[in-house]
Amino acid sequence: MTSGPAAFPTPAETAGSSVTPPGAAAHCVALTKRYGTGNTAVTALDAVDVAFSQGQFTAIMGPSGSGKSTLMHCMAGLDAATSGSLFIGDIQLGALDDRRLTRLRRDSIGFVFQAYNLVPTLTALENITLPSDIAGHPIDQAWLDTVVDTLGLRDRLKHRPNELSGGQQQRVACARALAGRPAIVFADEPTGNLDSRTGAEVLSFLRESVRRTGQTIAMVTHDPSAAAYADRVLFLADGRIVDEMYDPTAELVLERMKAFDADVPHAEVSWAEPAYVPPAPATAYAPPPAIPQPDLALPIPTAIPPAPQSTPPAPIPVAPAPASAPAPAPAPAAVAPSTNGPAPDGASAPDAVDMANWTDADWDDWLARKQTEGPGA
Ligand SMILES: Nc1ncnc2c1ncn2[C@@H]1O[C@H](COP(=O)(O)OP(=O)(O)O)[C@@H](O)[C@H]1O
Ligand SMILES: [Mg+2]
Repeated sequence: MTSGPAAFPTPAETAGSSVTPPGAAAHCVALTKRYGTGNTAVTALDAVDVAFSQGQFTAIMGPSGSGKSTLMHCMAGLDAATSGSLFIGDIQLGALDDRRLTRLRRDSIGFVFQAYNLVPTLTALENITLPSDIAGHPIDQAWLDTVVDTLGLRDRLKHRPNELSGGQQQRVACARALAGRPAIVFADEPTGNLDSRTGAEVLSFLRESVRRTGQTIAMVTHDPSAAAYADRVLFLADGRIVDEMYDPTAELVLERMKAFDADVPHAEVSWAEPAYVPPAPATAYAPPPAIPQPDLALPIPTAIPPAPQSTPPAPIPVAPAPASAPAPAPAPAAVAPSTNGPAPDGASAPDAVDMANWTDADWDDWLARKQTEGPGA
């Protein structure tokens, strides 16, 4: 194993500054994320420096609990860092107020979750265009057609998520992430719930979007054959980047994983993510479950392993980083209490920032109206 990658030159030089490594779509400097305090504190990310180059497809691998999801969520502004600096392009996330962070997430970041996180009451097409819809951005029809056709979704656009297979739902989720041509797409185990054939379709599309359109993608996976679609693989262990590999093949990645396991002689290293168990499919007439916020600040589906049986369930800390921490990112909208949002406003295009504060009831109202009026309303 090499002694850790020079993810980009001399982090010390860039620490605390806004110098963007050349060609980086996103990067972080000394990114640390700690959950909890005192004896129970967990350091999920330990001073990570990493850059994601424009037009590069990066896979992120590591044993379960090594911090992969935390890295994705912090980089995407969905979770607040404890310390360190995060940049999308040369915009520092910690310098943004909630409104600007929401806009940055909406306009510059795509996110694909293992659990799809589609809005159950909207059609595939409405799900794909929802972020643009919320933002009031015009749809780039030619690009949308390319995404839809490449993902093989043309004849599924009018279907609701519960009428689609898992692979189709994940392709819709990929289309939603790519439709706005974000600066970077983060994907956390996007093929974790898919059989190998549909998984390969999704991976091929992700790779093609990198090759053909210069899309930047960072994808967590535990599957060496999925990682082989990427240009580069980063290996995480205990919240640190411990290795990287360019032009990976499944065999080389597997070898590297075995070397990791050999480094931890007594522990059982699990590379697999816990499988996501989808809720029972909703019937057409059942009331929809709590509507996930369709801006990128969606609830985190499976990142949190269950507490050990022997300890009483502790509340999950969602407090933002202490004010004294350097450059904390603002708490994501997904965990902000949603109490004071204005009610959805009649016919005018909804304001995404206000929507970030909507209650479930607000969402129900708006989604009900969407269903009758259509996305253009
Ligand atoms: N919300 C949370 N509260 C407390 N600990 C957490 C939370 N989320 C993640 N962790 C802990 O942080 C570490 C990294 O988790 P995670 O990023 O989900 O790992 P991975 O995605 O690599 O499996 C783990 O030890 C995990 O238990
Ligand atoms: Mg994870």
